[in-house]
Amino acid sequence: MSKLFRFGVSLDKDLLDKFDRLIRVKNYPNRSEAFRDLIRQELVKKQWEDDKEIAGAIILIYDHHRRKLINKLTDIQHDFQKMIISTQHIHLDHNNCLEIIAVKGNPKEAQKLTDTLKSVKGVKHGTLSMSSTGKEIE
Ligand code: NI
Repeated sequence: MSKLFRFGVSLDKDLLDKFDRLIRVKNYPNRSEAFRDLIRQELVKKQWEDDKEIAGAIILIYDHHRRKLINKLTDIQHDFQKMIISTQHIHLDHNNCLEIIAVKGNPKEAQKLTDTLKSVKGVKHGTLSMSSTGKEIE
């Protein structure tokens, strides 16, 4: 970790009160940790915007009984095999499957993979959690 710096932040009282309420609800131990998290959030956002190497997770919910759909989802994942680092399949109940696809690589490719999977008929819900490889956000 690099050297720790302290700096002052001037805030409107109302805004500070709102921030303090927020960090209590979110269980941050103090303002500094909450502030660091907000900064990292923005840095990760910028990594996605700037086409840097990213990591993330795609979550899909789909109908277990549609066999063609499962084959199609597998075909798509083979086409994007270079960026998929892990896939986890969970049988949610008799009818529904949840799949978590961990990805690492180019943000546009991650978005394209998500959109392609989501658009397959029978996928009930799909979402992309945009995160970071952890580099350059310390
Ligand atoms: Ni299943």
